[in-house]
Amino acid sequence: MSLILSPSLLSADFANLQQAVEMLNASQADWLHIDVMDGMFVPNITIGQPVVKAIRKHARKPLDVHLMIMDPDRYIQSFKEAGADILTVHEEACRHLNRTLNAIRQTGMKAGVSINPHTPVCLLENIIEYADLVLIMSVNPGFGGQEFIENSYRKIEETARLKEKYNPDLVIEVDGGVSLENARKLLECGANALVAGNAVFSAPDPEKRIEEFKRTSL
Ligand code: DX5
Ligand code: ZN
Repeated sequence: MSLILSPSLLSADFANLQQAVEMLNASQADWLHIDVMDGMFVPNITIGQPVVKAIRKHARKPLDVHLMIMDPDRYIQSFKEAGADILTVHEEACRHLNRTLNAIRQTGMKAGVSINPHTPVCLLENIIEYADLVLIMSVNPGFGGQEFIENSYRKIEETARLKEKYNPDLVIEVDGGVSLENARKLLECGANALVAGNAVFSAPDPEKRIEEFKRTSL
């Protein structure tokens, strides 16, 4: 199984985003992961639609936009217009998740749903067929460079069982503390997409690090 690698721009130099995007264009990265935070759902504030739009102008790969914001329904259309290809919302931030995922799909974007480390996978059982992607948070969202939470392996396996039962085309993506050391085990548990921020951007040669990740396969 080949791995979809989505390097997270959160760990890039925000004053040199174009340079980071061009590095990713030239690399074997599959998607560009963009972390949007509102200071309410998570304790940090990052970037919004204008920056996504600016990234879109240079990126030649799908934009994998991870919304860590309350009531994301308010912004679905504007992220579509900014150029997002995949839009992931948090289960914990949505009152009517079925409605939200349908609204994302209606714009033509792929719809993703993410769960925090404390949220059980079984909450996805009645929603999984309406999602294109499940994003398992393997750290508490808000910051890059945190330590991987070990029970995430079990959650990936549980998600893989739901995938088999209800939605064989589902992408299972993992975000937080992903490294060259745990990548293979994550794939073995059933993940097929990995986000990597610190592991890519703190490497002496990020493009080479991406290549090393891409060599991880089952
Ligand atoms: C954390 C973000 C992640 C972050 C991952 O809230 O959702 O995408 O960039 O960073 P690393 O790979 O450094 O843990
Ligand atoms: Zn993320």
